[in-house]
Amino acid sequence: MSHKVTLIPGDGIGPEVSGAARRAVDATGVKIDWETAELNPEIIAKTGQSLPQHVIESLERTGIGLKAPVTTPVAGGYTSVNVALRKRLDLYANVRPVRSIPGLVTRFSDVKIDMVIFRENTEDLYSGLEHEVIPDVVTSLKVITRAASVRIAETAFRYAISNGRKKVAAIHKANIMKLADGLFLRCCREIAQRHPEIDYRELIVDNASMQLVIRPEQFDILLLPNLYGDIVSDLAAGLVGGLGVVPGANLGENHAVFEAVHGSAPDIAGKGIANPTAMMLSAAMMLVHLREQAAADLLQAAVEKIYSAKLHLTPDVGGSAGTQEFTDAVIAAMC
Ligand code: NAI
Repeated sequence: MSHKVTLIPGDGIGPEVSGAARRAVDATGVKIDWETAELNPEIIAKTGQSLPQHVIESLERTGIGLKAPVTTPVAGGYTSVNVALRKRLDLYANVRPVRSIPGLVTRFSDVKIDMVIFRENTEDLYSGLEHEVIPDVVTSLKVITRAASVRIAETAFRYAISNGRKKVAAIHKANIMKLADGLFLRCCREIAQRHPEIDYRELIVDNASMQLVIRPEQFDILLLPNLYGDIVSDLAAGLVGGLGVVPGANLGENHAVFEAVHGSAPDIAGKGIANPTAMMLSAAMMLVHLREQAAADLLQAAVEKIYSAKLHLTPDVGGSAGTQEFTDAVIAAMC
């Protein structure tokens, strides 16, 4: 049986890493009917829509996307297509497994890091509701709702139970944002009470950041509102080798879009040195979602084999290979 998947190559390093991930998925032997949907600054300028209709139509058809990063202009320009896509398809859960890769030397190689980040994906300060009250005075609305907070908390606890995880830590700043983060926290507590078998605790985001750096092995599942989830994801990626190696999924009731934590990396775009690991591992998460567990395991094992051998690695993780060489090695490791 073949699966229909929307492939969004994005821009910057996106086409390089998504091309590599597509080759690796095809090499597992799984039959994927790829439907390519271009989404990049040129298309956005041409169509005049920050979320062009053809992308939505394709994802509505397939229900599944493998998405590379898309650049968002800083301090002006159009609104983030990534945020728009997550809201439009109600992809409310951003799930990011952060794990030590055996063989990959990092500052934290001597500890085993194995945590999963559950970031609320549709609201908080990403509501995009900003307003210049008077010249030089701007407000930005942080929106927290019971519905979205309960939904992400339930998703995290459900995942913990079905994956044999033991601990959930809710991360907040409710000492300062007593109403907004207070509501988020109340919702997390309600869900936690229904699952007494899971060890639940709460940490203020500044302390959580320090704890992540000094004792990352203590964390299992992290449950966060959107902004803290975004920042803590990059921090956590830094513990296991950087943005080049951490995958992710955006999950909703009817759609799932798999994408790496990293962005379009304009500083290395077009140089052929981007690390496609994060995209490949996102693709492995997609294969699990498609119930192609054997293919997912094959891809995951092939990537790990390359790291264990410490050969064919890209410069961000201490090697000197290019995207192509790494990808060829992963594919060869599957045979
Ligand atoms: P970034 O993640 O693109 O890059 C940060 C640093 O990590 C850079 O030094 C980059 O070279 C390195 N890096 C990232 N991915 C890598 C990879 N696969 N291999 C090797 N090195 C890698 O973050 P930055 O520079 O803050 O953002 C660039 C653009 O990406 C912005 O327009 C931002 O809005 C967008 N972005 C898009 C996302 C998405 O489409 N989901 C997510 C995050 C950022």
